Amino acid sequence: MIENYETHQHDVLIIGAGGAGLRAAIAAAAAGASVGVVCKSLLGKAHTVMAEGGMAASLANLDQADSWEVHFADTMRGGQMINNWKMAELFAKEAPDRVFELERWGALFDRTPDGKIMQRAFGAHTYRRLCHVGDRTGLELIRTLQDKSVHSGIDVYMECTITRLLKDGDRVCGAFGYWREDGRFVLFRAKTIVLASGGWGRMYKVTSNSWESTGDGVAMAYEAGAELQDAEMVQFHPTGMVWPPGVRGILVTEGMRGEGGILRNSEGERFMERYDPKKLDLSSRDVVARAINSEVLAGRGSPHGGAFLEINHLPASFIKQKLPSMYEQFHALADVDITKEAIEVAPTVHYAMGGVRVEAETGATTVPGLFAAGEVAAGLHGANRLGGNSLTDLLVFGRRAGDAAAACANALSGPLYVDEWQVQEEKELLLRPFESGGKENPYLLHEELQEVMAEHAGITRDEETLQRGLRKVLDLQERTKNIEVLGSRMFNPGWHMARDDLFMLTVAKAVIRAAIARRESRGAQFRTDYPEKSEDLGRVNFAVCKTEAGMQVQPVPIPPMPPELAKILKENQ
Ligand code: FUM
Repeated sequence: MIENYETHQHDVLIIGAGGAGLRAAIAAAAAGASVGVVCKSLLGKAHTVMAEGGMAASLANLDQADSWEVHFADTMRGGQMINNWKMAELFAKEAPDRVFELERWGALFDRTPDGKIMQRAFGAHTYRRLCHVGDRTGLELIRTLQDKSVHSGIDVYMECTITRLLKDGDRVCGAFGYWREDGRFVLFRAKTIVLASGGWGRMYKVTSNSWESTGDGVAMAYEAGAELQDAEMVQFHPTGMVWPPGVRGILVTEGMRGEGGILRNSEGERFMERYDPKKLDLSSRDVVARAINSEVLAGRGSPHGGAFLEINHLPASFIKQKLPSMYEQFHALADVDITKEAIEVAPTVHYAMGGVRVEAETGATTVPGLFAAGEVAAGLHGANRLGGNSLTDLLVFGRRAGDAAAACANALSGPLYVDEWQVQEEKELLLRPFESGGKENPYLLHEELQEVMAEHAGITRDEETLQRGLRKVLDLQERTKNIEVLGSRMFNPGWHMARDDLFMLTVAKAVIRAAIARRESRGAQFRTDYPEKSEDLGRVNFAVCKTEAGMQVQPVPIPPMPPELAKILKENQ
């Protein structure tokens, strides 16, 4: 039966309404483009609101020695030198302007006594650099961008899932998907597309990520022929909630340690003194997460398999003022008063450093007309992202991608054709669970994937574990053909899960294959069979792309850093 679908048309289509998507929308609209923003959730509810501790920018309001050069050096060192250095340079230089701009648009930051934007310490940042709004900075960022963007004349399509990028020849020409409420299909024609759909944390069981983070953008870009990069680099935030079980993984902001919180093991020892005597609890996330993991494995963990984080040595009024959400979160979810007791914390999957490979200046992917910004894009953070670098990343590269996508749309001569066959193929894939005759449950399959990823692609990895994990993922992928969904497309979350499973399995394969390829330990990738860094592998990123022979992983040399940036790194050891 031929089913009609509604169609919308824009110069620039933005997929995702988090910080990167909204900032791109504002830029593209300012450049005169007709802009559509599609989001799975409601406007204002993107995963960005979960970002707590702040946005890093070298305003030097508290520490006058701070500068873009030190921020650049910290970001490169945090990323263990496989970052795209051009992105890191642009990022560190432009971050202060993006923060001031946000303030002009109405963001209300915490202030210093003399009225400047307040900044706090965070892991592996040399200076106090995180501009913040208590521990609700992501919320303030989204609130501000939302206000600004709706006044820019954009069209927003809420509760809509995009499942396929459409192509005219080599370039993108639109996207296809469905309304989450009733399952009606919808097609967007667009001259250019900005992917701003976030990460893939939901493929792991213990994660700080919200339900949207199912790797849609990365998987769709891969299917459309875009190269991925650094897929092996999955960040474990050291401090997620541990207890009670229903809240395991929810973020406990690094701001707790930034404001003076201390980690201890079950023997009361401040164990970070052994792992990083200089930076202690504010070491980089990969180091702190592995340290907690090691303490637990050595039998010095907290009762529910984590470490203790205490901040109750500080005045209650200070804690409530600086960390109001943490105070409420622990009170409401765990019946714990953080002003009085230590809390239990353990690593939680938080962020994907890997994603779609992009050009630094524009966010252009390797597919013409397709741009990417924010967590869906790779490069800026290398092997490990510093806390607070994500929110400013969204602003700096969201703006750049929006500008570039509008310019590219403007320059397009001639119409683009949507190939009905591609639409038909995606419809069939979407409808398959109703007709498969199989018995696989999409939720159980998702749970199995989460277990596989935790066991085989976790904080530590080795060849044998990864290879077994890959076999399990391939087996799960085969079983998706037999996913069965009952009922209709109306209000059917099981049907949504069935498509999400396909996205996550594609990305899971990329993560494991890239982790197998990188035979060394660097940043978030810790290989127990290759515990040291390899000089040779420090000069490459691993790219993942779709070929006729299937998924291929290959090393791509990192271009040499220009002498002026190398000098900055040397001067800021
Ligand atoms: O710990 C946090 O507040 C997280 C911040 C970030 O990931 O940037």
